[in-house]
Amino acid sequence: MPKVTYYSGETFPLEMHKVRIIQKLTLLPIEERLAAIEEAGYNTFLLQNKDVFLDMLTDSGVNAMSDRQQAAMLLADDAYAGSATFSRLHAKLTEIFGKKYFLPAHQGRAAEHILCKGFVKPGDIAVTNYHFTTWKAHVTALGGSVVELLKKEGLEPVSTNPFKGDIYVAGLEELVAKVGAERISYVRMEAGTNLIAGQPFSLANLRAVSAACHKHGIKLVLDASLLADNLHFIKTREAEYASVSVAQIAREMADCCDVIYFSARKLGFGRGGGIITSDQKIYKDLRGLVPMYEGFLTYGGMSVREMEAITVGLDETMDEDMINQGPQFIEYFVRELESHGVPMITPPGGLGAHVDAMRFLDHVPQTAYPSAALASAVYIASGVRGMERGTMSEQREPDGTEPLAHMELLRLAIPRRVFTLSQVSYAIDRVRWLYANRQIVGGLRWVEEPELLRFFYGRLEPIGDWHHQLVAKFRADFGDSL
Ligand code: F0G
Repeated sequence: MPKVTYYSGETFPLEMHKVRIIQKLTLLPIEERLAAIEEAGYNTFLLQNKDVFLDMLTDSGVNAMSDRQQAAMLLADDAYAGSATFSRLHAKLTEIFGKKYFLPAHQGRAAEHILCKGFVKPGDIAVTNYHFTTWKAHVTALGGSVVELLKKEGLEPVSTNPFKGDIYVAGLEELVAKVGAERISYVRMEAGTNLIAGQPFSLANLRAVSAACHKHGIKLVLDASLLADNLHFIKTREAEYASVSVAQIAREMADCCDVIYFSARKLGFGRGGGIITSDQKIYKDLRGLVPMYEGFLTYGGMSVREMEAITVGLDETMDEDMINQGPQFIEYFVRELESHGVPMITPPGGLGAHVDAMRFLDHVPQTAYPSAALASAVYIASGVRGMERGTMSEQREPDGTEPLAHMELLRLAIPRRVFTLSQVSYAIDRVRWLYANRQIVGGLRWVEEPELLRFFYGRLEPIGDWHHQLVAKFRADFGDSL
């Protein structure tokens, strides 16, 4: 929180920036929103942005840039090889994380591709606190399997554990004893753990995981895509780090890990990604894959303008005032909805506010995709586009059976520095209304189900007539309001 005390004694999020460039938004009438989601096959990924009022799908590639970032983009040095822009980004990464080598990639999943191609063999096990969709797809495509070692609170929707992203370290020891360290390709620790509602891990836990990995000669890889949120939470929730700078925390985290990769669509308010390490062997093992899949070693698929923006954005990530706005808005979002009885994932994490669709739509079975149904219902009710993070985001087993997700979440992402508090208040209001009318909302079924990453472009339809009933109730309650 900013160091500002209000007269009332309450605290509110307070932005330490002002808006200098704006983009006009449109809020369509509810009947047109219904037509748009029908057109999109009840999949919010397939909505056209022109039909969306507040785009809370993701915080990826949609964070607002600063004046300094925009200015830096004009100074970019265009060159296929040896660009000064690349050197500036490399130097910034080394300054912050203390790692010597940098392999650029066009986005986070491209870094995952390279890491998995380099490290995962058929039959291997890749261990993680919790998987992310694209990473798991790469591991399994290479014949590996994923073992998650989250502590049990990580999957409890309501908890007082401030670090639900922590790994159960004894579980790692048990796994090594059972399968042998040589079968474990690497341990991946995800900062701001995405699929469990942006929940952080503690630095104490990272240290313990690091010690366990290194005792057995296993590589520890940090997915730093959501590092900014995790840094904020270590600083504000881990007593030992209350007076340590986020830059110092970042360095201590990096020192625990052999490899760090990131999506700069999240980290550094930019677009792009890459892998950093100080291990020369790892660097050399992976290096050849970059020109093959991404681009030459001094751009890796990124434009020079993007690289300049990331360099400045990384600097801004080391500034507490720049990274605390997202988590503060999310906390406000979650606590307000919670105070009105809406089931939320708590404590609030990073990335966005996460609604617990399992409890919100407890009359909809998981096989009828409650999170996806809730995402569609929220869009119809408000024009706010959220993202399904539940069973629809899982992939079927090779025998066709469908694993049910541990959690059914609707994510309402807060892209960094983009929305105002009044826009968040509007979203809160409409989600409250929907909760009061939740019995109307039913499930969805597939019309077209792709085999791979089905949640991105699969199409569904409502089971029954709930979508029309929802529009009728909205009109009855709100008259001709948008
Ligand atoms: N790791 C994490 C933790 C992520 O959240 C993402 C992307 C990636 C890796 C892949 O990065 O998109 O640059 O290829 N998350 C986005 C999201 C897609 O909306 O949560 P990418």
